[in-house]
Amino acid sequence: MLHPICTISSEIYRLPYVHNITATMEAPVFAVCLIARGSRKLILTDKKNELSMDAANKIAAQIRSKPNTNLGLPTGRTPVLMYDYLVKLTEQEGLDWSRVNCFALDEYLNTTAEHSFQRYLETNLYDRIGFPKTNQHNPSMNDNYDAIIAQHGGLDLAILGIGLNGHIAFNEPGTPRLSFTQCIWLDEVSRKALSPTFGGMEATPSKAVTMGISTILASKQIIMLAFGQDKKEIVGKAFSNGINPEIPASFLTLHEHLTVLTD
Ligand code: PGA
Repeated sequence: MLHPICTISSEIYRLPYVHNITATMEAPVFAVCLIARGSRKLILTDKKNELSMDAANKIAAQIRSKPNTNLGLPTGRTPVLMYDYLVKLTEQEGLDWSRVNCFALDEYLNTTAEHSFQRYLETNLYDRIGFPKTNQHNPSMNDNYDAIIAQHGGLDLAILGIGLNGHIAFNEPGTPRLSFTQCIWLDEVSRKALSPTFGGMEATPSKAVTMGISTILASKQIIMLAFGQDKKEIVGKAFSNGINPEIPASFLTLHEHLTVLTD
């Protein structure tokens, strides 16, 4: 099976399925193509599918190795398949979620319950696995989110997406490294990307509450998912030009246990 996984260590992409190639950010796509056409067959596979399954497997492994795992969970289009696989794994393998705590990365302010990230997580994960309400955490429901995370022992694994402007959770461009859970104004790029869900810009929320960069970087492990052509440019920028607060995802290069799953 092809494992198109780039594990990023500092600013270097390591391609763990090949022993003798370490590609710099300037050439990761070329490297992947070269390998696919050379020693391996060019496998026309749905990478998003495979990578989503891989992310679900990593979460399941984390829960098996530490039953009281604390997860930071994303919303959006990107992780939908990952949650499907996680539900499947839970059913097939009897994954025990009873001691797991889930912390939503972010939440809209001033929106309906129907559009909330809490509802998203209920629909995509919590309700499907019978996840206890007491273990569901949301930054809009807690004033001291960072303190609550710390009281639980800190995040073990945070799963992230990336916005077209490089945001992680809702840390929009310009967010400093030293930032904790806070209310923010949504960037226009983010609002535009979200607007179809709300039926237009006018109805799209302008405020949200989000874990900060420091909250995320304090997680013991981070997995970022980035799928699709439209994310390629920002993923490249985030991991090739050093740290730039205008591209919040670039702060992730400071983390020692970061895995980027990208197609
Ligand atoms: P998306 O959002 O998965 O809907 O593209 C990702 C994000 O904004 O983090």
